[in-house]
Amino acid sequence: MLETGIDIVEVVRIKKSIQSSDRFTKRIFHKNEIEYCRSSATEYQNYAARFAAKEAIRKILLDHIQHNILKWKSVWVENNQNGKPILKFSEEILSKINIKNCSLSLSHIKELAIASVVMEFEMMNN
Ligand SMILES: CC(C)(COP(=O)(O)OP(=O)(O)OC[C@H]1O[C@@H](n2cnc3c(N)ncnc32)[C@H](O)[C@@H]1OP(=O)(O)O)[C@@H](O)C(=O)NCCC(=O)NCCS
Repeated sequence: MLETGIDIVEVVRIKKSIQSSDRFTKRIFHKNEIEYCRSSATEYQNYAARFAAKEAIRKILLDHIQHNILKWKSVWVENNQNGKPILKFSEEILSKINIKNCSLSLSHIKELAIASVVMEFEMMNN
């Protein structure tokens, strides 16, 4: 299967949630994402882009994976040495789907962040 997912997020909405609750941050974001965003001058734009990436991948996977397996931290963003964002998946997700190709692109400005995912995958026979 080849599918795309896209999502757009208001930076101020994510900023308010993060500033009002440390629990929100830890529930939604992987520790590597928190480390990346906290060390950036555009911290909340980076968080918002990662939130958008999680929503974009949810749009692809919700039809294929049980909701209780698809948790916020089942999928997270890491950046390679060039800064290019890469999606990482939990072992649980990888036991359900065989990901053949996956590409993520992020963009953010002061007010908005956007994420687009293209993924080629097949379901595991289990
Ligand atoms: C990488 C670059 C294109 C990002 O564009 P930007 O307008 O500054 O910023 P955007 O908000 O649109 O995108 C930022 C995101 O780009 C992504 N990005 C960074 N480096 C990347 C790379 N090498 N490949 C793909 N994506 C990259 C990151 O996900 C980043 O967000 P993050 O830090 O939250 O993960 C830009 O900083 C750059 O390096 N420009 C150099 C000039 C150039 O070579 N232009 C392209 C000519 S074809």
